[in-house]
Amino acid sequence: MNGPKPLRSILYVPGDNERAMNKAPGLPVDAIIYDLEDAVAPASKLSARARVCNAVAGIDRGQRVTAIRINDLASNEGADDLQAALAAAPDVLVLPKVQTVQDIEQLGVRIKAFGDAKPGRELEIWAMIETPKAVLNIKEIVQCSHTTGARLGAVLMGTNDLARATGVTLDMMSPWLMDCVLAAKAYGLAIIDGVYNNYSDQKAFVAVCEQGRDMGFDGKTLIHPSQIASANRVFAPSKEQLQEALEVVALFEREGHEKLNVLEIDGRMVERLHYLMAQKTLKTADLIKERTE
Ligand code: COA
Ligand code: MG
Repeated sequence: MNGPKPLRSILYVPGDNERAMNKAPGLPVDAIIYDLEDAVAPASKLSARARVCNAVAGIDRGQRVTAIRINDLASNEGADDLQAALAAAPDVLVLPKVQTVQDIEQLGVRIKAFGDAKPGRELEIWAMIETPKAVLNIKEIVQCSHTTGARLGAVLMGTNDLARATGVTLDMMSPWLMDCVLAAKAYGLAIIDGVYNNYSDQKAFVAVCEQGRDMGFDGKTLIHPSQIASANRVFAPSKEQLQEALEVVALFEREGHEKLNVLEIDGRMVERLHYLMAQKTLKTADLIKERTE
């Protein structure tokens, strides 16, 4: 977890699927991406735009992040999607098919020209990393999260598009994914793993979630409600991690320990950096608890 908000489970909801759209607000996910792009066939683009933007404008969001994925700005629909999405005032705009940092900067300029719908709450951009150029340009892309007026809040891996564009299978993509993870961490950005298409195979899904977590991803993008519980569990601190975090915090906060940087628990060394990590784990657990209460 990088940012203050948990992003364990991020569900794509096709904008042309009325049943899924109706179901989504009741599902226990950390974020919903209402999709106008790849999930929607060309013939349904207009109706999906209207349905999604009406729904988002009227939605009671609670603590969940609500995002709209527009079509890329070079496409036929991109500009109109953007206008409609801005008027609906989601928390996040997801930009697909990013190639360079300029794609994100241009979107930032257009958002600024429109003005933030909710004063004091800046609309975030989440960038889809799903083209070979985006992987090559990942360092510049994440750096723009630190420039003035930048709105980049997270990067999302689009592994299906990356596989299509390169002929490289998911199994062989780890070096690219790890480059992106490192780049995101260097700039304190959240980074979310790609989807797992075979939503009927729960066992395999848990394994890919665990692999994603161990690679450093903050959460997983999802395509089906059956994937939510596993992602929420795997990307949250485990019981053992919480127990350990409580012990580490108690140890470093014990009287007389404030000047020590290295201590010992059960024959293992713990450093002050583990104290900071433990505090972060407890904070994440609190935020998740707040969300589920
Ligand atoms: N979001 C919200 N609800 C969803 C959903 C989603 N992504 N996928 C399925 N559901 C709902 C269904 O509407 C159904 O609920 P209902 O009976 O109350 O209507 C329930 O979950 C069970 O769905 P199921 O019948 O098993 O699946 P399906 O045949 O309706 O849909 C897919 C299967 C793959 C077509 C669908 O899950 C989907 O479109 N997923 C998203 C794909 C996507 O966005 N791709 C682009 C990004 S990678
Ligand atoms: Mg895609």
